[in-house]
Amino acid sequence: MLKKLEGEVLSELIRELVSDIEGDIVSWRRHLHEHPELSTHEVETSAFVRSKLDEWGISHRIVEGPRPAELAAGRPEFIGTGIIATIRGEAAGAYDDEGNPVRRIALRADMDALPVTEQTGLDYASRNEGVMHACGHDCHIAMMLGAVCVLNQLRSSLRGEVRVLFQPSEENSLGARDMIAAGALDGVDAIYGAHIWSEVEGGTFSCEAGPRMAYSDWFRIDIEGVSAHGSMPHKGVDAIVVAAEIVNSLQVLVSRRTSPFEPAAITVGEIHGGTARNIIAGSAYLTGTLRTWHEGMRDSMIEGIERVADKVSHALGADVTFSLEPGNPGVVNDAACAEAARKAVVEVLGEQAVGSYEGTLAGEDFAEYQQLVPGVFVFVGTHNSAIGADHPQHSCYYQVDEAMLAKGSMVAVQWACDMLA
Ligand code: NI
Repeated sequence: MLKKLEGEVLSELIRELVSDIEGDIVSWRRHLHEHPELSTHEVETSAFVRSKLDEWGISHRIVEGPRPAELAAGRPEFIGTGIIATIRGEAAGAYDDEGNPVRRIALRADMDALPVTEQTGLDYASRNEGVMHACGHDCHIAMMLGAVCVLNQLRSSLRGEVRVLFQPSEENSLGARDMIAAGALDGVDAIYGAHIWSEVEGGTFSCEAGPRMAYSDWFRIDIEGVSAHGSMPHKGVDAIVVAAEIVNSLQVLVSRRTSPFEPAAITVGEIHGGTARNIIAGSAYLTGTLRTWHEGMRDSMIEGIERVADKVSHALGADVTFSLEPGNPGVVNDAACAEAARKAVVEVLGEQAVGSYEGTLAGEDFAEYQQLVPGVFVFVGTHNSAIGADHPQHSCYYQVDEAMLAKGSMVAVQWACDMLA
């Protein structure tokens, strides 16, 4: 008869079982790294994950997401790349009288790559020209497959159900919403996600509670001036000069209108205007992103950007249109889920593996899950200058310390077991 495992015995077994497949985890990661796919194109990636789940006899279903435009002609509008897998625990009392799990937790890994041309020179560098796993999502898939493989072997210790989400399209902010629409969170009590992170010291895990990643919003400012001959500025309204004033004035929102203790960033990433060097531009537009830590700050910054654009334009005689495309909310870790993650790190790797990190103004659509259920998003520290793993996320030189992959699997397994204990 299978005995329920707990405490140090369970942690020791998790270390053993994951260590047994560490070579596989690294080779899965390298295979995925060689074959990166962009958001909404994760076809081969998804097939690879499903082949592993099939091999281990783990039930799963496909989630449909929007099909990319270039593949859409004459075919269904949706393509299935997201995966929801289920591991049913077999510990005593895992199900109620109606057969429902007494507790259900979810683990999530994202699967997409970025439009970056890899320059690492690694043996297993991307073979897909112009596409690279420069954010480490290949590592997330490999760590999660390792965790799934081991959790499947530990079914007898699981009091409830583990749902595993392999999510496409994180980089375009759409995947989590598709997964949720497909019922990924139905009946889920708590969710865990992890991100390989180059700013966190290698060998450590950052699991702090509270805000961890930013509210990410996108804005566009269209300026309508009056074109004129380049030699006669007084006959026109120069939209380029207005745009330049707006760009400068927006900086003041952060430097003079925001507490130095409150993280916020406004970046104008694009500026377009004008048609020829001897013509005063009649129109111009800017696009940019706003990153904030708290919802109240987000609201006041949006109001501030709109006000600056409006007042500056009108002061200089131009008209303006402001538009906002709301992005994902902030990643905010639930206190109990975060503490369970910290405890899991200590149990399976020891106190020295608990790291710290102030958080980042980068965005993550994991936040969409946390809007609906309590969850924790863990940063898996992979900073290691000795092996070149010190470039930022999204860099063409991005590398990770692969020694963290098995550790990442161990922490996910331990968290899942503890949450279902
Ligand atoms: Ni990422």
